[in-house]
Amino acid sequence: MVQRSAGNERARVLADGHVIPMLGLGVWQVRNGRACVDAVRWALEAGYRHIDTAQAYGNEESVGRGLREAGVPREEIFVTTKFVPRRGAEPVTALESSLRQLGVEYVDLYLIHWPAGGPTWAWPGMERAHEAGGARSIGVSNFGVDDLRQLLATATVPPVVDQVQFSPYEYRKALLGTCHQQGIALEAYSPLGTGRHLEGETVTRIARRNERTPAQVLLRWCIERGIPVIPKSTHRERIAENARVFDFRLSNQDIAELDALDHTRGTERALERKWWR
Ligand code: A2P
Repeated sequence: MVQRSAGNERARVLADGHVIPMLGLGVWQVRNGRACVDAVRWALEAGYRHIDTAQAYGNEESVGRGLREAGVPREEIFVTTKFVPRRGAEPVTALESSLRQLGVEYVDLYLIHWPAGGPTWAWPGMERAHEAGGARSIGVSNFGVDDLRQLLATATVPPVVDQVQFSPYEYRKALLGTCHQQGIALEAYSPLGTGRHLEGETVTRIARRNERTPAQVLLRWCIERGIPVIPKSTHRERIAENARVFDFRLSNQDIAELDALDHTRGTERALERKWWR
């Protein structure tokens, strides 16, 4: 049975009551500079209201410039950045620097970028950043099931998001199940497999059947599960194409065929044992 999202498909309410737009622009691997400023501005002009950056991307300054150039009121935009968990770093101080670079007074979501040094040590600092008002919501990224369990056992303010690599090919059912049980929204980065999944035979066939593009099919697969997505592009027409995902539905057959692309079976945990360990 396909689990469909209900209600307003364009946004999802997080466990702390804040609302996250289902579609965001990701800017991983976009260099600080004009290309990044333009991508953010084009996204906002195409109707995106969610931009996802990180301290580690080195482009917060350009994201901030893009936000200002687009002229959309700050309160209408959901901005995420991420804390780099390196030795000696402190979430409150790091966030102050991010806010300065972005030119904003708060971010909507502040995530621990990956669980380096263990999943719990940085969390009290994240809670302080939240309490001080610089981060409306707090969460994590690249955390697996065990990381979440450890964190939930010690957290005073629970994380509301786990942002991970997720697509039909990386359909992480155990993690999705844990997130669901714990009231954590799983958010999908690299929903297009950094572009690798766009040429797959199944995805292409389903796109043709729906008179849509492969990117739209992959994004729609997440959205119909209530999973926020942050596709990355620096091309204006692709940014616009990726936003046209709220005016069609995949059939149960489409979803079943996409589900069958999952290649994490039995290896889901391998996605959790990456270079940051
Ligand atoms: P580009 O930035 O040159 O447009 P993911 O979001 O999974 O990380 O995928 C991002 C990659 O997919 C980037 O290389 C991006 O290229 C490419 N991409 C994003 N949207 C589209 C699209 N609609 N059609 C084709 N390629 C796309």
